[in-house]
Amino acid sequence: PGEVLDALGRLRLVPVVVLDDAADAAPLAGALVAGGLPVAEVTFRTPAAGDAIRAMADRGDVLLGAGTVLTPAQVDEAVAAGARYVVSPGLSRAVVERCAEHGVLALPGAVTATEVQAALELGLTAVKFFPAGTSGGAPAIRALAAPFGGVRFIPTGGVGPATVADYLAVDAVVAVGGSWMVPRERIAAGDVEAVRRLTAEAVALVRRPED
Ligand code: 3PG
Repeated sequence: PGEVLDALGRLRLVPVVVLDDAADAAPLAGALVAGGLPVAEVTFRTPAAGDAIRAMADRGDVLLGAGTVLTPAQVDEAVAAGARYVVSPGLSRAVVERCAEHGVLALPGAVTATEVQAALELGLTAVKFFPAGTSGGAPAIRALAAPFGGVRFIPTGGVGPATVADYLAVDAVVAVGGSWMVPRERIAAGDVEAVRRLTAEAVALVRRPED
């Protein structure tokens, strides 16, 4: 799990994907790689999620996470398909424990001190800060990081080109998640060029000076 968190920290940006048709997964993965972002969080908001993860994982060059995971059964499905980490909108003990059984990184949502403490009690040191935009944004993460020195945050939800740098400027932020570079309707339309371009633009925004 630690290795996966380190990899997310190097990538700095995670596209959060909603796929209506698993047949779109392989072209999408190609567009993400071409855009310089070999990672995807595929959400279990559609029945295509498991097959989409499998299709993207088969390439071998994309780090796959499962998003919107609400049940232990979805954890099983995601891991079987090739997901290396599991993201939930909120904190579920059952989901976190199933992830631990599989040895995969769990990133539950946490936006309050109480939720962060609950995650710590489950043995976690990284959480998704969701929904970031309406939960106080970067200043709220800074304030939470003060008492919870070792905790790392992945803000997601309402992040876009205008705010991504503000989040990444916070030391406790590992990476930022968002869907703006992978618009659902562009993917459904087979417009991989739009995804590649939006992805490349997003990568340019988060590039470190030393990169
Ligand atoms: C998620 O599930 O993480 C969010 O829906 C992604 O948020 P965004 O669409 O506001 O980027």
